[in-house]
Amino acid sequence: MSGFSPEWLALREPADLAARNLGVLDACGSTFSHHGALAICDLGAGTGASLRAFTHILPLHQQWTLVDHDPVNLAAVHFSGDESRVKFRVAVHDFAKQPACWPAHTELVTASALLDLTSADWIGRLVAALAVDGVAVLATLIFNGVIAADPAHPLDAAVATAFSLHQTSDKGFGPAAGPAAADMMAQSLQDAGYEVTAGDSPWSIGRTAPAFLRQTLEGIAMAVRETGAVPQVDEWLRDRLANVRLLTIGHRDIFARPRR
Ligand SMILES: C[S@@+](CC[C@H](N)C(=O)[O-])C[C@H]1O[C@@H](n2cnc3c(N)ncnc32)[C@H](O)[C@@H]1O
Repeated sequence: MSGFSPEWLALREPADLAARNLGVLDACGSTFSHHGALAICDLGAGTGASLRAFTHILPLHQQWTLVDHDPVNLAAVHFSGDESRVKFRVAVHDFAKQPACWPAHTELVTASALLDLTSADWIGRLVAALAVDGVAVLATLIFNGVIAADPAHPLDAAVATAFSLHQTSDKGFGPAAGPAAADMMAQSLQDAGYEVTAGDSPWSIGRTAPAFLRQTLEGIAMAVRETGAVPQVDEWLRDRLANVRLLTIGHRDIFARPRR
């Protein structure tokens, strides 16, 4: 399974749905509760998880633009809601150089599991462009560096540190913001005059999701192996695959709207 393959995105979607912060979703929903219709642009749309996750909190009539540079993911976009009122189109586009790729009249930009891949510079340019256009933003599932397991293992802390370091490697946007992305985004939005609501949205992965638990642990181990920082990472992985009852991976969600 490759980094952002449709198979991996499908495996993580139930955990993503369970994780998103309800206070942040409420802030977004109530902002647009008096709108009859809304134009939304989803950055890094993958197979359309944001479309499936947020339709129910947004106005009755929605026009989505789903942007991603991976045509394989966009070809796998699926939606089982009412397409007479929730319309969407896909756009194959790389927004690494220019974050402002939303259509004119967009009122909400969404991004799930994207911001930690981007850089401080890109986040700054994204917020500047949002502010110029007066667009609100809902950015969810931003990895914040927390990895915790029950039961714990003596190498957990070293593995978490090495994984967070790996998360700062360049993903096409310059040095990745990684675990600092959510704080950077919130601060940048506040500085730009936005009203910001933020909250935690951790994954809680237990034995009821064995494939997801295994893929997540193997993904962490693979990244840590690449850093060379924890020579005993394979021993850690063997133990974790056998013994972890609950794995917690920390994220932050952010909703921000321009102050009127
Ligand atoms: C972790 S996946 C999240 C997908 C989806 N938002 C979800 O929650 O399931 C990140 C997505 O960002 C896309 N992406 C990464 N870099 C990009 C870029 N420079 N331009 C456009 N899309 C990009 C990837 O192709 C991938 O689909």
